Amino acid sequence: MKYILYFNEINKEKQSLAGGKGVNLGELFNNKFIVPEGFCVTTEAYDLLVENEALKEMIENLNTLDYKNTELITEAGKNIRNIITEAEVSEAVKIAVYGAWNNLGANYSYAVRSSGTAEDLKEISFAGQQDTFLNIRGYENIVEAVQKCWASLFSDRAIIYRNKNGFDNTKVKLAVIVQKMIGSEYSGIMFTADPISGNRKITDIDAGYGLGEALVSGLITPDFYQIYNSKIINKKIARKEKGIFPDNEGGVIEVEIVEEYMEKQVLSDEQILKLTAAGLKIQETFGCPQDIEWGFYQGKFHILQSRPVTSLFPIPKSHDNQKHIFYSFGHIQRMTEAMKPLALSVFETTRIFDKFGAADSVSIQTEAGGRIYIDLGYFLHIPKIRENISDIIQYADVDGANIAEELAERESEFASDEEFTKKAEKFLAPVFWKTGLNLHVWNVKRLRARGEKFFRNEALKWENDINSYKGIEKIKRIRWYIGGMFNFLFSKAVEFPASAVISQVKIKKMCMECFSTEETEELLTQLNMSVENDIAGDMMMEIYDMADMARGSKELKEFMKNTTNETFWNDLENLKTNLEFTLEMKKFIAKYGIRCAGEIDISVKRWKEAPAEILPLIMDYIRISSMNEHREKFKKGLQTAKEAEDKIVSGIKGKLGNSKARKAAKFIKIYRTMAGFRKSPKYFMVKFLDIARTAVLDEADVLVEAGVINNREDIFYFSFDEVIEILEGVYNKDINKILEKRKRDFEFYKKMTPPRIMTSDGEILTDKTGNNSTPEGALIGMAASAGVKEGTANVILELSDADLKEGEILVTSCTDPAWTPLFTKASAVVTETGGMMMHSSVTARECGIPAAAGVKDAVKKIKTGDRIRVNGTEGYVEILEAYKEEI
Ligand SMILES: Nc1ncnc2c1ncn2[C@@H]1O[C@H](COP(=O)(O)OP(=O)(O)O)[C@@H](O)[C@H]1O
Ligand SMILES: [Mg+2]
Repeated sequence: MKYILYFNEINKEKQSLAGGKGVNLGELFNNKFIVPEGFCVTTEAYDLLVENEALKEMIENLNTLDYKNTELITEAGKNIRNIITEAEVSEAVKIAVYGAWNNLGANYSYAVRSSGTAEDLKEISFAGQQDTFLNIRGYENIVEAVQKCWASLFSDRAIIYRNKNGFDNTKVKLAVIVQKMIGSEYSGIMFTADPISGNRKITDIDAGYGLGEALVSGLITPDFYQIYNSKIINKKIARKEKGIFPDNEGGVIEVEIVEEYMEKQVLSDEQILKLTAAGLKIQETFGCPQDIEWGFYQGKFHILQSRPVTSLFPIPKSHDNQKHIFYSFGHIQRMTEAMKPLALSVFETTRIFDKFGAADSVSIQTEAGGRIYIDLGYFLHIPKIRENISDIIQYADVDGANIAEELAERESEFASDEEFTKKAEKFLAPVFWKTGLNLHVWNVKRLRARGEKFFRNEALKWENDINSYKGIEKIKRIRWYIGGMFNFLFSKAVEFPASAVISQVKIKKMCMECFSTEETEELLTQLNMSVENDIAGDMMMEIYDMADMARGSKELKEFMKNTTNETFWNDLENLKTNLEFTLEMKKFIAKYGIRCAGEIDISVKRWKEAPAEILPLIMDYIRISSMNEHREKFKKGLQTAKEAEDKIVSGIKGKLGNSKARKAAKFIKIYRTMAGFRKSPKYFMVKFLDIARTAVLDEADVLVEAGVINNREDIFYFSFDEVIEILEGVYNKDINKILEKRKRDFEFYKKMTPPRIMTSDGEILTDKTGNNSTPEGALIGMAASAGVKEGTANVILELSDADLKEGEILVTSCTDPAWTPLFTKASAVVTETGGMMMHSSVTARECGIPAAAGVKDAVKKIKTGDRIRVNGTEGYVEILEAYKEEI
């Protein structure tokens, strides 16, 4: 039996004996990083303690408790903790600890730190779940602290956490580290990859005075530094009013910082860079980005802990070792949620460039974290695309446009493929050619009619063809269509929306010769108002019409609040006084029922299946607008667009002459007539996905009947190819096992915020123009967990008063691990104190909810019931609407 291990005896193989923290400290120590000396009380010592039959039974019993039943858990936890802290530690363990302690030095003071052993839970850091005791002197006190560490394995929150996540309480074990204390002058955290954006090229450092405890506990907002390429690119110096220091009597005390130091930069620039270099070395040692705890003592940086950064968005897979740059397909589609395997396979099957043979040498689409990424690098090498990259991105994803310039500049960094470039150019040439022709048609109305007919007829053709197949053959046929879908859309359908896009580019060019940049931007915005025959716009109009019908009706408001997807049609039929609304709703579903939020994901329920999902849109509109406002706005927009048109044409006439003005008028006409097609290719795809979804679910029902799967929706966890194999009975993996793993993966990915643009070495490109800066009036803090969320604020000052409803935004001054359960209900978090490593920041990242930290006076400025929007990526909060009592 090994009850203690010195740091120099610990390596990776000792995980089950020394726990995660212990192993990493051993590895650091043995790789010659500066680590205070120490030893580890192994899990075998812990095992000896729980040999006790009664205790064993009590721990086993924990597994039967419902995590929601906090009363029972508190009671059971307390009993177990009491037994552990009061138990007599066995002689053998005592002797081993005594020897090691005496060996290191009986006169030193020590940190006694918990080191957990949850091996297969790499995604979870168990932040602050177990206790740590600092500045402990004397052998007896050390043993007592070790017992307290063991006991903390059964804190209420630890048990709740395990039961909620289905971890066996009898399987967890704890090692305890006993390590020499250093009297840190400054301490902090360092992330060698920015955990908020996921950028692996940026190092983040938090720094405060004294021991790191002050940062972890959220007692202070630390300084924050960011480093990119050995340069400090961001410094936020916080006001640090307090620090935690070792107490002469043992233990630690809170100390007021001297005024002149409060707003001083804790680390000098030189120290920051030195620490960063050490961090990158540690990252190299462990082979992945690290989350490091450090202390500065007697002129040196000491490393107190290192572990992998959790919840970093995975890097999209590349097919070779060259550098690639990936653009998120979800950002283009405005649907950044994680998708299930079947949905992903829809896009992986649409091998757009297969046709020109590039698929063998390069792969254009790839997957990461349940999202699809497109290898943009290959496109950047196509001159026609590179030269117009700004307009293309502007069209595809407005918010990404500010990155266009950097992309074009960095083109040469990324993998290219001559074959691909050549073939892509060949493929694109006719598209450009056809689009060019469209700009010269004399009858624009006829062009529109041709477009409308095209989309209508093709959709029908596909549908009829698919429906002439049955069973597995139908699924195969669908897969065949998917394979060619993007190719089809690009070569046949894009000419219609592209006519509008290219016209706009031409108008812009002419405007830039006659107006200032700002004027041009404004004129183009105005020209884009109230586009007619726009599928998306028309649909919103009808939703707003329903909002107007419901506006004055108590009965309808009640209906919208209380109905569910299951009872929707029944409840609707039972409405007494709102026949008009009922009819409109039926009409709406008949027309748009194949749509829904996240509609590019085949696994998402369509509105016709989940009609209640439309209601929040209606209710939102009632709240933010007045009767008939949308129709008025549309009318006004028409007029504004007309005025912009006149202004553009006469401006061009004055400056560039008559013939240019006539040209401009023509382009404007094409733009206004064809802009409605911008959403048509997507809508075409949505129609097709509906057919595919129905067919897949029909087959899933057959599989459920045959007992192959339990639930029809389980089918979405398999790719198209796998579905076909399952249907044919040749799928040779364990369906239930695969299903279970994929469900877990999906839940994990769901919580992540995907970056828009990412390189294959983990750099994330962001807008550096500052054009997306903080909105006016926002409460400014720091980014702590990525994402943006809107919701109702609930200001909670004391945990004991917490009454947080599902989906509300938690606003508080600071949290500790006891608050963790609230994070599973909250949709976002705002705290007054800041820091990357504070409990609330870490937990928000783990739960995948946005968090803004260090928001000064948040609990005063935000009131319970206010509607707020939290931007956790940028670190600010907007109050959208102050709470008012409903009348
Ligand atoms: N040997 C030590 N000397 C000085 N400070 C320490 C030492 N060990 C830990 N600390 C401080 O205590 C903090 C918390 O300890 P740790 O055991 O890492 O707990 P947790 O698991 O909650 O992060 C660390 O971040 C560090 O600042
Ligand atoms: Mg720690």
